[in-house]
Amino acid sequence: MRFPSSVLAVLTDPRTEIRDDRVRVPFSIDRNGYEELDRVLKEMGGRWNGASTVHAHVFPYRIEEHMRQCLAAGEFPTRTEQGWFPTPPSLAMQVCDLAGAWVGATVLEPSAGSGALTTELARRGAVVDAVEIDPVRANVLRQQGDCRMVIGGDFLDVDPMDYPEGFDRIVMNPPFAKGLDHIKHAIAFMKDDGILVSVMSQGLMWWTDRASVEFRAMVEEVGGEIEALPDDSFKVCGTGVRTCLVFLPGYAGGPLRTYDWLMRQPVQLGLFGIAA
Ligand SMILES: C[S@@+](CC[C@H](N)C(=O)[O-])C[C@H]1O[C@@H](n2cnc3c(N)ncnc32)[C@H](O)[C@@H]1O
Repeated sequence: MRFPSSVLAVLTDPRTEIRDDRVRVPFSIDRNGYEELDRVLKEMGGRWNGASTVHAHVFPYRIEEHMRQCLAAGEFPTRTEQGWFPTPPSLAMQVCDLAGAWVGATVLEPSAGSGALTTELARRGAVVDAVEIDPVRANVLRQQGDCRMVIGGDFLDVDPMDYPEGFDRIVMNPPFAKGLDHIKHAIAFMKDDGILVSVMSQGLMWWTDRASVEFRAMVEEVGGEIEALPDDSFKVCGTGVRTCLVFLPGYAGGPLRTYDWLMRQPVQLGLFGIAA
């Protein structure tokens, strides 16, 4: 949901203190403005604490980094509109550690939101390309300047063959509703010896539909892992959504239909005398 302009004005006012788990406005605002602000902060999970030593909206999590991202995007995830869950900073570090991105490594973030993962990857010296369907968040990514390229659009429509080469790493936290489609599509952007790390709904660990069962079998076959994350991993977004981390390593000659696998297809067809 977009911040009402009066709320955005207060929250971006340099006098407003957004630190650790609280938001404090040390100047007076009119009653309507305060009610709007109170509504938004409560929607984000905050509660007013009027004790003289506090006098702030206090959140059950560190709001600082999350608010920075929301203000940059001009919008915030509400309890009802839950498509956008920015990866909290500590989890972003964990995901990037697991992916093992290095200085100069090429990394794709296929649903980059407002840059929780791209910022951390760029900080580590990786060369990052991003895709994001929401035009506001895609612009935020461009303004941040952390990415070599930002495509504004549907990742599922992006053709891996439009890239000159595969990526060393895929690092992602896709929309959970279509998470498995996103992960499977992302594999086609990965080098043979690349690694994909994705945050995903914990349901992937036990869903019984064919796509999930086959995916888990494939993860096992390549020596990958799906590990449950603690229940409070996304508390920072005001949600208790249960998540897991998918780790998928590629290797030459392995079963993953990677970018390199796709590139080999015309050659293989040619070997059998079939025109590519
Ligand atoms: C769970 S949020 C995570 C954002 C970011 N990856 C992060 O870790 O903070 C998912 C993001 O995917 C974006 N998204 C949803 N569908 C998409 C699609 N088909 N292609 C690209 N991005 C998409 C949403 O707009 C949202 O920003």
